[in-house]
Amino acid sequence: MIKMRDITKCYQLGGEKVHALDRVSFDIDDGEYVAIIGPSGSGKSTLMNIIGCLDVQDSGTYHLDGVDTSKYSGRQLARLRSTHIGFIFQGFNLLGKLNALENVELPLIYQGVGRRQRRRRAEEALSSVGLSDRMKHRPSQLSGGQQQRVAIARALVANPHLILADEPTGNLDTATGNEIMGLFEQLHEQGNTIVLITHDRGVAARAQRALRIVDGRIQPEENQEG
Ligand SMILES: Nc1ncnc2c1ncn2[C@@H]1O[C@H](COP(=O)(O)OP(=O)(O)OP(=O)(O)O)[C@@H](O)[C@H]1O
Ligand SMILES: [Mg+2]
Repeated sequence: MIKMRDITKCYQLGGEKVHALDRVSFDIDDGEYVAIIGPSGSGKSTLMNIIGCLDVQDSGTYHLDGVDTSKYSGRQLARLRSTHIGFIFQGFNLLGKLNALENVELPLIYQGVGRRQRRRRAEEALSSVGLSDRMKHRPSQLSGGQQQRVAIARALVANPHLILADEPTGNLDTATGNEIMGLFEQLHEQGNTIVLITHDRGVAARAQRALRIVDGRIQPEENQEG
């Protein structure tokens, strides 16, 4: 599914060059649930942006489902994103003027899915995260955990090959965060491939496997319990 080889990404800031990612290589297989963990500034979001085809590496190769992403144009990458990847962010990123159902329908609008089917699939996705009774609520009328469930439903509605989450529990209290982690476990059991970015060891420990990143480099794998 994901094959990264010697991915490097630098930022030039004034006269200084920051190596955000330094020869990063790893594979993630279909159906895996992997956490990427590392301290602040270690390169997690930079890596997530490349995995999600939101940004391009300076050097190295990234294959997603067998496609060499460096050979794709911006337009082709946008299409790959909308058909292959479901994004979940720490800040939920829902549109405040739209209700839950309309937010979840959005990715299907971009894909040109007809109105009726859109509605049906959005309702299904919201039911699958336990929100059948909140479909007409706007984000401001929902709790943080409920907003994150809407964001998860939106990420799932287009049946992506890959679910990519950046600090999905970062804005939630511990109990609500646990609930959301339970939902990820359920999605994994259903066969979804999940990559979850976190600085929280407890969160990372619930994934099948963790990749640790420090100063833009992947660290050798630690022995993990469970
Ligand atoms: N646009 C940019 N211009 C210059 N430097 C940047 C830019 N984006 C990130 N960096 C630098 O690259 C490094 C990695 O940043 P990144 O955002 O990937 O870290 P992170 O692991 O996501 O951190 P956090 O946990 O705080 O979100 C940092 O040193 C950061 O200062
Ligand atoms: Mg970050």
